[in-house]
Amino acid sequence: MRSYSLIAPAKINLYLEIMGDRPDGYHELVMVLQSITLADEVHIRAIGSDVIRVHCDDPTVPQDETNLAYKAAALMQQQFPAAQAKWGGVEIDIEKHIPIGAGLAGGSANAAAVLVGINLLWQLGLTQLELQDLAAQLGSDIPFCVTGGTALATGRGELLDALPTLAEGHLVLAKYRDLPVSTPWAYHTYRQQFGHTYLCSSDDLECRRQQVHSSGMLGAIAQQDTPKIAQLLHNDLEKVVLPEYPQVQHLRDQFQAIGVLGTLMSGSGSTVFALVESAPQAEQVKAKMRTATPDPNLELWVTKFSPSGIQLAQG
Ligand code: C5P
Repeated sequence: MRSYSLIAPAKINLYLEIMGDRPDGYHELVMVLQSITLADEVHIRAIGSDVIRVHCDDPTVPQDETNLAYKAAALMQQQFPAAQAKWGGVEIDIEKHIPIGAGLAGGSANAAAVLVGINLLWQLGLTQLELQDLAAQLGSDIPFCVTGGTALATGRGELLDALPTLAEGHLVLAKYRDLPVSTPWAYHTYRQQFGHTYLCSSDDLECRRQQVHSSGMLGAIAQQDTPKIAQLLHNDLEKVVLPEYPQVQHLRDQFQAIGVLGTLMSGSGSTVFALVESAPQAEQVKAKMRTATPDPNLELWVTKFSPSGIQLAQG
């Protein structure tokens, strides 16, 4: 039986601005998304019967049809019935390294890996754009997870413009183990508190989008200017998550007190990341965070920017 092992990198948001409501109930966003080397590994193989099986080494991850990886396989079965009849079902094994409920798109990355894996397994020959279209049916972050790197994401988050690959970017991530933040809750609360500021007309939305295209953040990325990128980090969802979750605020304050280039909550949280100058500095910041907050529930990772999305694992 054929099988593939894929690396499924997490993402962080260097920028997240909520512009307005959409007719589909989602929010109109402008985001700058960045893949990082912290990644899950997803093993996928064809099995004789028609079923989809999902296993994960983390028992808190659902292994049934509610798992996004399962939904990705079901979508492929539904879209490509002839291939499914030829190749049968799939078994998916997820080795979890990306924390859950963390704003790092771990579940989305797993689903993206399943789309890429089944494309290979069933020899479908789908392009990146075709995979992204399928991914958009499953979740707003999944198209980005397919391609990865550095990208400007608009619309629901599914419309992607590739940005210059950021060669350097060293990070420390911090998250309390038992502190997930619900993404629907964060957006819903934002709408309740800031809905009155939303742009309504399509002209206003387009105008704002153009401003972001010529913004400092995109200029800093074009110039590979990490200190400037760090100064311009922004996430609207911090306005609702930080007041509700003082522990997340604490992580942000702690990074700032230690002295890093910049710090921000990723996505809807609860991970906070710090951009630092080098890999050795990342290790120092991690050690200082551990000393400043000796809570066994605090998890810390040293990682860096990754230029790619889903990749075949080596070996
Ligand atoms: O698309 P996805 O399933 O990842 O989105 C999770 C939740 O985040 C949605 O149910 C919605 O509440 C919120 N969301 C939003 N606007 C977006 C993306 C996500 O309101 N553009």
